Amino acid sequence: MASGQMSRDEALECTRCRHACHVLLYSETASQLFGRIPIRYIVLMQMRFDGLLGFPGGFVNPLEETLEEGLTRELLEELGVAVPVSKEDHVESCFSPPRSGTYSSSSRLILHFYVKKMEEEQIQEIEKAAASTAADHGLEVLGMVRVPLYTTKSGGGLSCFLSHSFIGVARFQLMNSLLRLHLVSPGDLQEALRSSQRTHA
Ligand code: GTP
Ligand code: MN
Ligand code: MN
Ligand code: MN
Ligand code: MN
Ligand code: MN
Repeated sequence: MASGQMSRDEALECTRCRHACHVLLYSETASQLFGRIPIRYIVLMQMRFDGLLGFPGGFVNPLEETLEEGLTRELLEELGVAVPVSKEDHVESCFSPPRSGTYSSSSRLILHFYVKKMEEEQIQEIEKAAASTAADHGLEVLGMVRVPLYTTKSGGGLSCFLSHSFIGVARFQLMNSLLRLHLVSPGDLQEALRSSQRTHA
């Protein structure tokens, strides 16, 4: 386990910590951009109220709900669909990198990250609900976005996406997940990062 990380159970032992759960929802797809570039997977993120990209989810109170129940409650608020999430979908838990002066050490924030694979039709239903019936639409959540996993000849796609600003460790959670789930090859991710620095540094 990488430094700073802990198991789900270890994390819950910290009763003075605050907890937040977020999830990467994804599916396979056969659709092609411009009818010729296979997009291969749909990976969902969101544009947050603060202009940063992040994953759907939010604060959970372990005294009132399990982590997964709390995450499902947040998904209902933010996506308009109570997507069920289970312990088996948990990937990692870690302390949030401290933001200077924001929190005292007694109320440290632990971030729990989940990944759930769905059917393409379910992802499409979520996108529809998120833009219409979700309580937080247009307020805390400005919109759901799909992550482009390809890199175009002109260097657009994943490289440009990664050059945006992300909340917390969401950018690392995204890159780690793309590698772990084999959605992008290590070589393609490296190339996207190189071209992202070249184009946008
Ligand atoms: P409120 O309903 O306004 O309380 O927001 P929320 O419950 O939806 O909480 P939010 O999604 O903003 O997440 C809570 C905290 O977790 C944020 O303040 C960030 O510090 C952190 N956070 C938010 N999104 C992500 C994410 O995608 N990844 C990680 N690692 N942290 C995140
Ligand atoms: Mn067009
Ligand atoms: Mn929320
Ligand atoms: Mn949220
Ligand atoms: Mn909340
Ligand atoms: Mn809220």
